[in-house]
Amino acid sequence: MKAIRVRAFGGPEVMVLEDVPDLHAGPQQVLVHVKAAGVNPTDTYTRSGTSRRPALPYTPGIDAAGIVEAVGEGVTRVKVGARVYISGSLSGAYAEQALCDEYQVHPLPERVTFAQGAGVNVPYATAYRALFQLAKTTPGEIVLVHGASGGVGVAAVQLARAAGIEVIGTGGTERGRKLAIEQGAHRVLDHHAPNYLDQIQPLTQGHGVDVILEMLANINLDKDLKVLAMGGRVVVIGSRGKIEIDPRDAMMRDASILAMLLFNATPDESFIIHSALYAGLEDGTLRPVVGKEIPLAEAPRAHREIMEPNAYGKIILIP
Ligand SMILES: NC(=O)c1ccc[n+]([C@@H]2O[C@H](COP(=O)([O-])OP(=O)(O)OC[C@H]3O[C@@H](n4cnc5c(N)ncnc54)[C@H](OP(=O)(O)O)[C@@H]3O)[C@@H](O)[C@H]2O)c1
Repeated sequence: MKAIRVRAFGGPEVMVLEDVPDLHAGPQQVLVHVKAAGVNPTDTYTRSGTSRRPALPYTPGIDAAGIVEAVGEGVTRVKVGARVYISGSLSGAYAEQALCDEYQVHPLPERVTFAQGAGVNVPYATAYRALFQLAKTTPGEIVLVHGASGGVGVAAVQLARAAGIEVIGTGGTERGRKLAIEQGAHRVLDHHAPNYLDQIQPLTQGHGVDVILEMLANINLDKDLKVLAMGGRVVVIGSRGKIEIDPRDAMMRDASILAMLLFNATPDESFIIHSALYAGLEDGTLRPVVGKEIPLAEAPRAHREIMEPNAYGKIILIP
């Protein structure tokens, strides 16, 4: 089969499509024929060697969707031929095959395409965990999805809207803001406009926002604390550097700064997350947005584009 291999950490060009031996499912393992693989910013951090450093050579990618090709001894939850999405694998997702532990494989409802399925795991699980497991957002509260045009943002908008939460989203482009509205945001703001957060008070009748899902905390955290309601919570999802904050802004509001890594979810929390995501995918409230499909061989281009501004849903690789 063909797979992207990385033999040295570095720029996008270190990803090369190679012929590699076919994979085989051992006990408790599931072999997935990958139809589409999702590209996430974290894949670029791993590839460049700035975060987690897997043993080299390795195949990048956490997210994919496809069809179960084989199951190993003892596998009970999935059958050969089933449509699935994966939440990680033993072998890497940027490939024609992915070898998974049984718990990493989840059913993909018929109405969801494979390309959409490849955009489920990291974005939706992260958004769900931030909204509900960390911030404990309840119906009737107001959430600011600070960065609503990309993978996690679109997922958060859909999840929040379906749960009866009022949603304000931000996007850096007209196209991205339109997407956020189409996906369920009640209001949108331009995070590049000067003083755009001044609009939060009038938009919320002076209440402020109860929850902020923050995609770029190193730019926004200090401003976030100033627009929170009493008892407000910020969840730091993305951050690419340092920032100075004024703790008094948090004190004045009994506010909490929460932060998360999806990888920290326990198996029980992951089970809850994927059960909830299945329900939303099945009834159509969760509809991953595929902004761009790129051939697997052009993975380097996908990694350049995911780090550029002007996000629009998900970038998906097609083997
Ligand atoms: N903690 C975790 O476990 C976890 C999991 C998943 C993702 N993440 C991180 O979360 C971030 C978002 O991930 P993603 O998959 O959604 O990436 P993505 O698809 O590339 O989207 C990036 C988002 O950030 C927005 N953004 C750009 N400048 C911003 C600003 N000044 N203020 C607010 N938002 C801004 C973009 O908006 P425009 O392009 O429209 O300007 C876009 O909505 C990344 O940093 C990623 O590494 C963390």
